[in-house]
Amino acid sequence: MESKYFILFLLSFYSFIPKISSTTTNVINTNQFITDGDTIVSSGGTFELGFFSPNGSTTRYIGIWYKQILPYVQTIVWVANREKPLTNTSSVVLKVNKPGILALLNDKNETIWSTNTSRSVQNPVAVLLDSGNLVLKDANDDNPENFLWQSFNFPTDTHLPDMKLGKNFKTGIEVYLLAWKNDNDPTPGEYSLHIDPTGYPQGLIRHGARVSARAGPWNGLRWSGAPAPLQTQTSIYTFQFVFNEEEVYYSFSLINNSLLTRLVLTNNGYIQRLTWVDRTKSWHLYLNIPLDTCDTYSLCGAYGSCVIDSSPVCGCLDKFEPKYPQNWQTGDWSQGCVRKTPIDCNKEHGFLKYSGIKLPETNNSQYNKTMTLEGCRQVCSTNCSCTAYSSLDISNGDKGCLFWSGELIDIRELSGRGQDIYIRMDSSDIVSQASSNRKKTGTVLAVSFSLLVAVILLGLILFMYIRKKKKLKLKEDFELPQFQLSLITRATNNFSVNNQIGEGGYGPVYKGVLEEGQEIAVKRLSRTSMQGIDEFKNEVTYIAKLQHRNLVRLLGCCIQGEEKMLIYEYMPNKSLDSYIFDQTKKKLLDWSRRFDIINGIARGLLYLHQDSRLRIIHRDLKASNVLLDTEMNPKISDFGMARSVAGNDMGAKTCHVVGTHGYMSPEYAVDGIFSVKSDVFSFGVLVLEIVSCKKNRGFVHEDHNLNLLGHVSTLYILVYITYRICHDLNYSNRHGSFTRKIGPWN
Ligand SMILES: *[C@@H]1O[C@H](CO)[C@@H](O)[C@H](O)[C@H]1NC(C)=O
Ligand SMILES: *[C@@H]1O[C@H](CO)[C@@H](O)[C@H](O)[C@H]1NC(C)=O
Ligand SMILES: *[C@@H]1O[C@H](CO)[C@@H](O)[C@H](O)[C@H]1NC(C)=O
Ligand SMILES: *[C@@H]1O[C@H](CO)[C@@H](O)[C@H](O)[C@H]1NC(C)=O
Ligand SMILES: *[C@@H]1O[C@H](CO)[C@@H](O)[C@H](O)[C@H]1NC(C)=O
Ligand SMILES: *[C@@H]1O[C@H](CO)[C@@H](O)[C@H](O)[C@H]1NC(C)=O
Ligand SMILES: *[C@@H]1O[C@H](CO)[C@@H](O)[C@H](O)[C@H]1NC(C)=O
Ligand SMILES: *[C@@H]1O[C@H](CO)[C@@H](O)[C@H](O)[C@H]1NC(C)=O
Repeated sequence: MESKYFILFLLSFYSFIPKISSTTTNVINTNQFITDGDTIVSSGGTFELGFFSPNGSTTRYIGIWYKQILPYVQTIVWVANREKPLTNTSSVVLKVNKPGILALLNDKNETIWSTNTSRSVQNPVAVLLDSGNLVLKDANDDNPENFLWQSFNFPTDTHLPDMKLGKNFKTGIEVYLLAWKNDNDPTPGEYSLHIDPTGYPQGLIRHGARVSARAGPWNGLRWSGAPAPLQTQTSIYTFQFVFNEEEVYYSFSLINNSLLTRLVLTNNGYIQRLTWVDRTKSWHLYLNIPLDTCDTYSLCGAYGSCVIDSSPVCGCLDKFEPKYPQNWQTGDWSQGCVRKTPIDCNKEHGFLKYSGIKLPETNNSQYNKTMTLEGCRQVCSTNCSCTAYSSLDISNGDKGCLFWSGELIDIRELSGRGQDIYIRMDSSDIVSQASSNRKKTGTVLAVSFSLLVAVILLGLILFMYIRKKKKLKLKEDFELPQFQLSLITRATNNFSVNNQIGEGGYGPVYKGVLEEGQEIAVKRLSRTSMQGIDEFKNEVTYIAKLQHRNLVRLLGCCIQGEEKMLIYEYMPNKSLDSYIFDQTKKKLLDWSRRFDIINGIARGLLYLHQDSRLRIIHRDLKASNVLLDTEMNPKISDFGMARSVAGNDMGAKTCHVVGTHGYMSPEYAVDGIFSVKSDVFSFGVLVLEIVSCKKNRGFVHEDHNLNLLGHVSTLYILVYITYRICHDLNYSNRHGSFTRKIGPWN
């Protein structure tokens, strides 16, 4: 009985509120309501709101669809009660209540669905705007800031033009897409699309809580992993990404409002851009993301890189290897890759540039919007937990930084549209950068480089072999004279600090004057150095038996009690590096001088490798180990790391890689394989340094991140230099011609 009266009461109540009239309106006010069959239409006639049933279903929902194309297809862009479908709408109404709430009510005045608000206004209305946005606002207030509620903040699976997908940091509202359960069921599905602001913002498709695909961070032009279009403007729409203290969002706008386009997150996790084609009266698929297998999130694991046109698609980044090779081979790539040379925070590092990639996961990254790329490098290099950096905004040159810490995941190669990232590497891996940085051209260049260096040496060998063949004659068993400690102490002023001229591999080096006036250099083994003892013995063994005008001459040694010293002839002009790397002194070396120096070093090396009985690999040839006498003749010094190779066996392997980064050949630095070729490589580096007066390591160039070797290989100039050297040696031997023909290095 009571309920009957109640319904009667309701009916009488409703009869005071007029039903939406048949003439179209875009507003519902507090004096109106709509029931099943009624609709409101946006002012421009683009969108319509009302009750609908999905295809193949009888359940009813409140939704918004395109009005214009309704005769051809009902395209639902928003659903209100997606979690509360109605089976009987005979007494259900949609109305606006006083504080400013739009509610779907049943015959018992129970709320099936409603909007919410924290504010109230005098004269609330619900308006369907021509953008497809359903808003609750005061009838006289059109300021979007004052909207009580808007459907653009609670989208379903469709991103419409001018909707901001992202997060407002002030209100805390995150706007994201949530897919339908299936084509015919608007119930929330499993996939969602977010502009995730964790770390540096990036576009993510989530499957439940887990990420299924990632667009990558915004790079000023587009998402780092996005396919074409490459510009922020296409022929039909423009798009933008805004990230500041207040909000982060992605949105797009139509260039011509008469063209329809929308972005939909499908129930199987694809983002599709669809455009309405009037000619065919149907939606056409404009873009479909993920593009391919390589867009599968973290498919290749940490430091793995996905290359879609290779088989298998996963590989490790250059200088990385599979963490578990066995699993990797079977296609289980999820555990990813590790550095071939692990990072030791106590050692020296550099950064290796990887080009053409989709930037890795940024949820744990930090950023700075104003720094320069060089600044990024400096900041990143000071903190060992910074694993990589890149430029943040490439829209107008390089601007800002992104810093990664921890492992780098979800990397793929994007030929032609990827970005550069600089990954922290052990210095030994930087040495051979030239040969591996750019895989395709890099390999070719490296091979030709090694060949060319070999050619240089061959030319020199040939030249000097002919010249010296008759002259070479080794002294029999060289005996090393012993010096008295007291004599040395006197000569060096009791090892006075003023007499110290340098610091050798295993201890300080002093200048001294013997009583007869001869100047000497004394290398004193520091007592704390354990490794020094081996090097000391090594040096005594080798250098004592070697005699050549381009090797520094050992006068004798002094072994007394704890003290161990080596006494050399004194070189007044110090080492080569003090000349070539010094801004003013390098001018003293003209081309013919430099040529003579290169020639001299080559002779010394030739002697070590070929003409001495021991056949010695120096293993630490570098500018600071080449000393200059009064006439600027070069003399190779420091045999602490030298090794003798027996007979014809000119290659060996060591687990203990020694030497100096920047001069080490790749196969030695990485695999510990040393041979005369390792010295030849160092010699090649040294030649470049002498010619260019620039250090291989520490070489900087504004265009790239390569060392001197890498730089030269990009210039191809080596080809010319080598040609000249060989030409001059073999045919004309006119030293001066070098200067005139190639001109000074700038
Ligand atoms: C509805 O379903 C029918 C048959 O399954 C199909 O032909 C039609 O295209 C569908 N319409 C929409 C809008 O999905
Ligand atoms: C819908 O509900 C009304 C009363 O609210 C009832 O009269 C009608 O029979 C119902 N229709 C169906 C199909 O259940
Ligand atoms: C229906 O409920 C709303 C609040 O939920 C209330 O303001 C309104 O007065 C109710 N109407 C009737 C007819 O009971
Ligand atoms: C409205 O409801 C949504 C979730 O349904 C919630 O996130 C939001 O904070 C609510 N807003 C207000 C003003 O209560
Ligand atoms: C928009 O497109 C329509 C139909 O293609 C065309 O008639 C109209 O001139 C265009 N408007 C602008 C501003 O380009
Ligand atoms: C970042 O993503 C990785 C991989 O999905 C996850 O393991 C990690 O917890 C995430 N970190 C943050 C801060 O969200
Ligand atoms: C970014 O770097 C600039 C220049 O180094 C610095 O002044 C600024 O404070 C940094 N900003 C942030 C947010 O760290
Ligand atoms: C180094 O970087 C890590 C991760 O970015 C950060 O947590 C830490 O505070 C940094 N340390 C220093 C000394 O800046």
